[in-house]
Amino acid sequence: MMKFKYFYQQMLAFFMVIMTMLIIMGFSFLQFSKNTTYNNTEEQLYGYAAALVSGDLQKSQLDNGQLILKNQEVTLTVFDNNDLMIYPETVKNYASGISKEDFKKLEKGQRISLKIRQTDFYGNDRQLAIVYLPFFTQDSNTFSGFVAVSSPISGIEATLTALRNNLFAAFLFSSLGAVILSLLFAKYQVNRINRLRSATHTVAEGNFDIHLKNNNKDEFDDLAGDFNLMAESLKASQKEIEHQENRRRQFMADVAHEMRTPLTTINGLLEGLEYDMIPSNQKKRSIELMHNETRRLIRLVNENLDYEKIRSNQIFLHKQHFNAKETLEMVVEQLSLKAESAKNVLKIDCPSDVEIYADYDRFVQIIVNLTQNAIQFTQEGEIKLIGRMEDGRSMIKVEDTGIGIDTKEVQNIWERYYKADVSRKNTVYGESGLGLAIVQQLVNLHGATISVDSILGKGTIFTLIFPFENKRK
Ligand SMILES: Nc1ncnc2c1ncn2[C@@H]1O[C@H](COP(=O)(O)OP(=O)(O)OP(=O)(O)O)[C@@H](O)[C@H]1O
Ligand SMILES: [Mg+2]
Repeated sequence: MMKFKYFYQQMLAFFMVIMTMLIIMGFSFLQFSKNTTYNNTEEQLYGYAAALVSGDLQKSQLDNGQLILKNQEVTLTVFDNNDLMIYPETVKNYASGISKEDFKKLEKGQRISLKIRQTDFYGNDRQLAIVYLPFFTQDSNTFSGFVAVSSPISGIEATLTALRNNLFAAFLFSSLGAVILSLLFAKYQVNRINRLRSATHTVAEGNFDIHLKNNNKDEFDDLAGDFNLMAESLKASQKEIEHQENRRRQFMADVAHEMRTPLTTINGLLEGLEYDMIPSNQKKRSIELMHNETRRLIRLVNENLDYEKIRSNQIFLHKQHFNAKETLEMVVEQLSLKAESAKNVLKIDCPSDVEIYADYDRFVQIIVNLTQNAIQFTQEGEIKLIGRMEDGRSMIKVEDTGIGIDTKEVQNIWERYYKADVSRKNTVYGESGLGLAIVQQLVNLHGATISVDSILGKGTIFTLIFPFENKRK
């Protein structure tokens, strides 16, 4: 298929419409002018003929008339009722040579309008336009001859040619105008299309902030309006996709963060078993611990790696009552290897009647995170896990004698990926800066509170308060 640009299509169409109009108008004008020119000539010639007839065709009058009309090349001729020329007087009697029907019409008193003849009455080659008018005797009213008034056709033709030339010049000028006009028109239309095209490219490149002007005037404006709607809805879905993607990324990071600790514990215990470093009386307990952790991991995976939950960012809590001291001991057991490697002492200060009402796995997650931080930011110090019942609520404290947190930094530590100072980035356990953000989210879910007290260089205390509901209520 040949490519024919819309620009040229528009231009051609518009140009053709203008030209067709011009041609039709030109032709009808030409036709009209031709008719009027002939009619005028005819009327003029009749006028002369009528004047002659009413003047009784006296010879002196005829001579005068002929003399006056000579300049206009009009000739006056009179024929008798036998079709013989009686004026101008010639030796030879010329005939008019009109047809029999025309002669009959004259006899009846009808006039004969413009006739074109190729020769004059004397047989010379001359194109003539002639009118014939009959005349009658005044008393008896009988047909006694007719007057023929002629004018050379070249006069009429000259007028018409001049007219045609003028018209042709006008036609050329108008065509030029038509070309310019159709060019502008086509340019205007194509510009509007090009505007849409470039907007489409912008959208294709991923920029949805484009807004086309819409005057609500025609289909192009409607299209621009639709285009704007499309860009808006694309932008909305793009936003939603980004939102989902962020949520997913955040969720995956959190899950990975929480899986790392139990996996490290299990790995440490397995290594201990492999190299026979665990005393035989503790082996059973180690296996139990690993079992606990693997079960917790399985629960974590089952509950968290659900696509729908990631999408809607939902976490369901399975709240239950459990003993605080046993749970804290389990956490200490898990983290004792890490504490030892930092030469820290892990202690528990908790009466055995302290109870917690919470989602067990989430609670362990919270305590593990806080204790891990304490180990991580303390060297050769003491870390204490304290549990109390206070005002009918369960209170847990994680206390350390580590490096502490600058008062300027304290409010920032809950932010995702926040690390109080760059030099801490390379510490063994703190890797991502996610721990406290996760802790805070879980604490809020429980309707519990967490607060921090810290003195730089002295140590840090994290205090958790969980609302407590009695089993039998
Ligand atoms: N017990 C603490 N002593 C001193 N600083 C702490 C303590 N706990 C938290 N911080 C500060 O708060 C920041 C945020 O802690 P968070 O647990 O969120 O991240 P992280 O431990 O650095 O990394 P992650 O827990 O993701 O492995 C830490 O980098 C640290 O600067
Ligand atoms: Mg941490």
